Amino acid sequence: MSDQPVPVIDAMHFRRTLGQYPTGVVVITAVTDGEVVGMTVGSFASVSIDPPLVAFFATSTSGSWRAIRESGTAFCVNVLSADQEDVCRQVASRKSDKFEGIPLRITERGHAVLEEALAYIECETEAIHPGGDHDIVVGRVLNLDMQGTTNPLLFFRGGYGAFIPLSLASADAGLASQMRFVDVARGAMERLAGDLDAEVSAVCTAGEDLVIAATAGPLVRPEMITRVGQRWPFAPPTGALFAVHRDEAERRRWLTRAAEKFGAGAATELLERVEAEGAVYAVGPVDSQAPLFDVLSLDVPLDLVHEHAAAYNPSVDEVTGEIDLRFVSAPIVVGGEMVFELSAWGRRQPLTKAQARQIIDRVKACAAEISTIIIDAGLVPNAAAAV
Ligand SMILES: Cc1cc2nc3c(=O)[nH]c(=O)nc-3n(C[C@H](O)[C@H](O)[C@H](O)COP(=O)(O)O)c2cc1C
Repeated sequence: MSDQPVPVIDAMHFRRTLGQYPTGVVVITAVTDGEVVGMTVGSFASVSIDPPLVAFFATSTSGSWRAIRESGTAFCVNVLSADQEDVCRQVASRKSDKFEGIPLRITERGHAVLEEALAYIECETEAIHPGGDHDIVVGRVLNLDMQGTTNPLLFFRGGYGAFIPLSLASADAGLASQMRFVDVARGAMERLAGDLDAEVSAVCTAGEDLVIAATAGPLVRPEMITRVGQRWPFAPPTGALFAVHRDEAERRRWLTRAAEKFGAGAATELLERVEAEGAVYAVGPVDSQAPLFDVLSLDVPLDLVHEHAAAYNPSVDEVTGEIDLRFVSAPIVVGGEMVFELSAWGRRQPLTKAQARQIIDRVKACAAEISTIIIDAGLVPNAAAAV
């Protein structure tokens, strides 16, 4: 220790400065005589994988912490989702029955799990260390699991928020308006993902890019935490649906760029095929070294995409042999305007023509269903007559 006097840190300054660091929010639960007790905690962290340990910091004087401590050594960490701000506030209050009206279940180990939490972690208290005016509570993880795919609740500078990838959060007014449509489409996207056992995504335009605004179903690349926010340049052969369904200027811009890449004739032909089919799909040779499917799943040079442009919308009916359908995209058109693109990815096994056709038609039908949902939700004034 140095001889220097210990500096006095102003408590408000400490709070404000530390408030620059955002946290997630969890609810710690414990069960005592059949009654659930608990508290809202921001100071939660994973500590160790082997052995599996987590920790949180509890105000030593907290009545809720005392109740958890006195209930025994079992506690459960519930990770709150972005739509559980009310749960966060209710459990942080000093009400006598903090869990009234909050759906929960008791697990085999006797832990209280909030039904709508994103994840839960069943723990046994491993150690309680003093940490100034807090107790550092270390828990050994006995069991844990995830329960949903929505975003977590975040706490920052005293306010609540939700996680948005930077690529989506950009001040892009066009993208923000498309997100309203994507939000109401989630149920239909989940159903399509379930039916096809494929990853389904909503693709929007953001300036000069195409961006994945939402996904449903199993990820085509499970090692990626999320594909939401992934961008790729809005350049041929991608974006053909937008070129067909947006205005004439968009169509000409796309055709000019496409002509530079693969010649005017091929570009026009591709666009006409897309128009006639009402969908875009890509088939790849099963043994391809750089399948389109992978190319579009990663940030790779567009040249690779161009190399595979021929695989875009060949007529399925003309392809010979088994078909490896990489993805199918269909436009969501409302009131004559395309609001976003629906894509299904990830059927890796070879298909017959009839099976490929069935999948293409299923994606198109889902796109049509979403258009109706958007109109029924009243998001597009006077659209009903113009579909
Ligand atoms: C977002 C948020 C984060 C919190 N994080 C902590 C925390 O990390 N540790 C803690 O002891 N209390 C934390 N609290 C406060 C407790 O949840 C709770 O308000 C308090 O414990 C209730 O009063 P009582 O403990 O005297 O019963 C937090 C509250 C909120 C709203």
